[in-house]
Amino acid sequence: MLVARDLVKAFGGVRAVDGVSFAIGRGTITGLIGPNGAGKTTLFNCLAGFHRPTSGTLAFQGTRIDGEGPDRIFRRGLARTFQIPRPFPEMSVLENVMLAPAGQTGERFWSNWFAAGTVAREERALRDRAMHWLAFVGLDALAGRPARVLSGGQRKLVELARVLVAEPTMILLDEPGAGVNPRMLDTIVDRIATLNAQGITFLVIEHNMDLVMRLCRPILVMAQGRLLMQGDPDAVRGDPRVVEAYLGGAAA
Ligand SMILES: Nc1ncnc2c1ncn2[C@@H]1O[C@H](COP(=O)(O)OP(=O)(O)OP(=O)(O)O)[C@@H](O)[C@H]1O
Ligand SMILES: [Mg+2]
Repeated sequence: MLVARDLVKAFGGVRAVDGVSFAIGRGTITGLIGPNGAGKTTLFNCLAGFHRPTSGTLAFQGTRIDGEGPDRIFRRGLARTFQIPRPFPEMSVLENVMLAPAGQTGERFWSNWFAAGTVAREERALRDRAMHWLAFVGLDALAGRPARVLSGGQRKLVELARVLVAEPTMILLDEPGAGVNPRMLDTIVDRIATLNAQGITFLVIEHNMDLVMRLCRPILVMAQGRLLMQGDPDAVRGDPRVVEAYLGGAAA
């Protein structure tokens, strides 16, 4: 589904992503873990076209995407959510879901929706889809409320609903469990599993090991810009390199 070869992203002298290669299988929920500063979000930014890789190649469903911008990659069906979602606080929850995900759409998307003569019908169709996905994440009762009333966990779910409106093939989730209470975490885990059963492939950055171990197979482990290892939860848990990466990160 998604293949990276020798991917590098350097900021000045810092190689935040330092020669990473992997292949993510269609239909998987692949985990991406590693200590703070390991390069996980930077890798996501490369995959989703927010950063142009310094070197290396990326292929999505067999097509080279390295060097393409975020709008183009999003239209190919590869969507991402943000580590810290920032909904427009005074707009309604529904309006936020109806918005094209920030930085992920091009003019063509908008001209589809706003072509002369079809505005009202298209707007209604978009609204129906947004309501459908809001209900899917269990937040349809809040559709009319301003987004500022949302809790951290609800923001994560609204962000998920927002990318689902575009019906992506693969979703990159940046810390879906961060700052989320245990009950909401169960909802998030369940919704990801349901979407996966419907055929959506996931790559999930997460520090919450409970979520990772329940949901993700395989798991990729990054440290200091490099891919340290990959394997199933038990292999990752028992690997001394992983333990050391986390202890080293904690001591730094
Ligand atoms: N735009 C940028 N300019 C310069 N350095 C950056 C930039 N983005 C990230 N970095 C650096 O790259 C390294 C990796 O950061 P990144 O945010 O990718 O880590 P992460 O694994 O997502 O960490 P966390 O778990 O804390 O979210 C860090 O040293 C960070 O300071
Ligand atoms: Mg990060």
